[in-house]
Amino acid sequence: MEKEISVAIVGGTGNLGTALAARLAAPGVRVLIGSRDPEKAKAVVESLKPKVTQGRLEGRGNQEAVTEAEFVVIAVPYEGHAKIVADLKGQLAGKTVIDTVVPLQKGRPFVPPAGSALLEAQKIIEGEAPVVGALHNISAADLGDAEASLGDVLVCGDSEAAKQSVMEIIRRIGARAFDAGPAANAYVVEGLTGVLIYLNRKYKSKHGSVKITGIGE
Ligand SMILES: NC(=O)c1ccc[n+]([C@@H]2O[C@H](COP(=O)([O-])OP(=O)(O)OC[C@H]3O[C@@H](n4cnc5c(N)ncnc54)[C@H](OP(=O)(O)O)[C@@H]3O)[C@@H](O)[C@H]2O)c1
Repeated sequence: MEKEISVAIVGGTGNLGTALAARLAAPGVRVLIGSRDPEKAKAVVESLKPKVTQGRLEGRGNQEAVTEAEFVVIAVPYEGHAKIVADLKGQLAGKTVIDTVVPLQKGRPFVPPAGSALLEAQKIIEGEAPVVGALHNISAADLGDAEASLGDVLVCGDSEAAKQSVMEIIRRIGARAFDAGPAANAYVVEGLTGVLIYLNRKYKSKHGSVKITGIGE
């Protein structure tokens, strides 16, 4: 039997968070959907119930969600990233943080002053919790469709143990996970999403994602 784990999703009411919550709950992960407004989180949980018939799905304010979980996914737009990480710093201590955030300005990628969203979070958290970058290149449309196959997930971070545990969670949602190196590599993985956004627009798709060939096939 797989180990029971709990995952909070900060910004869990959004496109990525909602889709991820359903994918995680299906194999039995306890999911705490977080929001700045706890009522909004509870409403999202209700809306997911017909789709998610098993697993534990609960709605909370971001702070409460983080407090109750072992893993914390940050799934807010880049504009809110630094502030929400700083606001939650006290609750994040001792957790494993999974940062999905892509620095975008008007839909275009850019490299933020810290070097990447992951390095920004790492700097704010100051070693209180390992930060792992993951899920940047996954399509929320595919994630939200239980039947859809998922692209590969490139996982970056400076803690080998945290990366391994995050890769295990990624496998539970039905995607292949690859160790893509240290936190210093995150700007490449985050930036790749800018290319996927362009490709989706150009080729009128919602499913652009990444596949690694030649490894593990
Ligand atoms: N969508 C995708 O396909 C996808 C794929 C990979 C990675 N990502 C990354 O995942 C993150 C979330 O994407 P998304 O499409 O899910 O975004 P979204 O739907 O626009 O927003 C997600 C949630 O973030 C919260 N939020 C919005 N503005 C905020 C702010 N200023 N401060 C704190 N919280 C705020 C909101 O929740 P409450 O109002 O309930 O607090 C919102 O529901 C982004 O950084 C994106 O780059 C997205």
